[in-house]
Amino acid sequence: MTAWFAKARFGLFLHFGLYSVAARHEWVMNYEEIPPDVYERYAEFFEPDLFDARAIARAAREAGQRYAVLTAKHHEGFCLWDTATTDFKSPRDLVLEYVEACRAEGLKVGLYYSLLDWHHPDYPVDRHHPLRAHPEKRDISKYRPYLHAQVRELLTDYGQIDYLFFDFTDEPGSGGTTPQDWDAEALMAMCRELQPGMIVNDRLGIPGDLVTPEQYQPVRPLLRDGRPVPWEACQTVNGSWGYHRDNHDFKTPEMIVRMLAGSVALGGNLLLNVGPTGRGEIAPVDAALLAAVGEWMRRHSPAIHGAGPADHVPPSGVTYTQRGDRLYAHLFDWPFGLLHLPGLAGRVRFARFLHDGSEIRYREIPPDQEAFNLTPAAPDPGTLTLTLPVHRPEVALPVIEILLTS
Ligand code: GLC
Repeated sequence: MTAWFAKARFGLFLHFGLYSVAARHEWVMNYEEIPPDVYERYAEFFEPDLFDARAIARAAREAGQRYAVLTAKHHEGFCLWDTATTDFKSPRDLVLEYVEACRAEGLKVGLYYSLLDWHHPDYPVDRHHPLRAHPEKRDISKYRPYLHAQVRELLTDYGQIDYLFFDFTDEPGSGGTTPQDWDAEALMAMCRELQPGMIVNDRLGIPGDLVTPEQYQPVRPLLRDGRPVPWEACQTVNGSWGYHRDNHDFKTPEMIVRMLAGSVALGGNLLLNVGPTGRGEIAPVDAALLAAVGEWMRRHSPAIHGAGPADHVPPSGVTYTQRGDRLYAHLFDWPFGLLHLPGLAGRVRFARFLHDGSEIRYREIPPDQEAFNLTPAAPDPGTLTLTLPVHRPEVALPVIEILLTS
């Protein structure tokens, strides 16, 4: 079930809602403690005239992304699809436009659905709620059928959904929301019944098909019961998921491709977010970032798509990914002249830069011999020594493709 996901490696996260109009972070309702009846007024000014799902899906595909995940509903409670459960919804069925566009561009279809709902009158006023300074008694069991009905609509009316990203359940023991609040087991059973091929994340508070570290890069493969578990790091471009006009804390394309290569090297995916503007288009700075990452992906896709952790341990400054008998050395640091790769002597048929296919010549120190003319301080026996040009290639992250002997 997760096979397509592990091959895809790179996806686009899209946060779009009324908060895109406020343009001050998708938690603006919480941050500014805006009561639901006041916040609701943003719906009057929600005019996504530039939301072109096809253009967004195309930008994702050209960035090398193989799937996308759209916020059908975020914590604010506003729905992007034509739901029968509430009037608090977009005048256009953006979920429909989006799923059709993804399919047309060959992307797997993911939806994000917020379990929290700060607009619903029965959703508890907990510590995250905008009304937290004015506590009142509420009964979550009255909200639960609404939540289940919404998920049922999304999984019934839009054809095949490949990935459902629930968000989120508080930490166990925190006194916050629990899996029982959502009846997580029943929700998961509904997912399995309505969309048997769909993968579901872990934020219902019960195990799902993958785990979702947020805004940090893991430093080792993620395990469940001692075995590797599929995972996906989700990352923002500037610290905010929703469009945030005045936040210019942008990551560079170089940082993003490192995050991507680093994820794949540890058996994970990268879900990179952009928050379309209040009018619904990808902001120019985000579009430029995606295009720059896409320019790298155009030439380096073999080191990412269908690749995973390597059987070898890289030296410092290098990250490995591997696809079958091809080992990819991602050079996070640019070495001086020689690059020493331990343990690879006698294991290599050919080496080249991935971006231009140019041969990289090498020498090998056989496992049982001393180094040639590198003494003193020679690398260990068994080392493969590549000769690199002085100048680092003009790519966001240089990659060497090494064809291994079988
Ligand atoms: C969070 C946040 C949120 C964002 C998300 C993405 O838990 O509440 O605003 O949508 O995670 O992973």
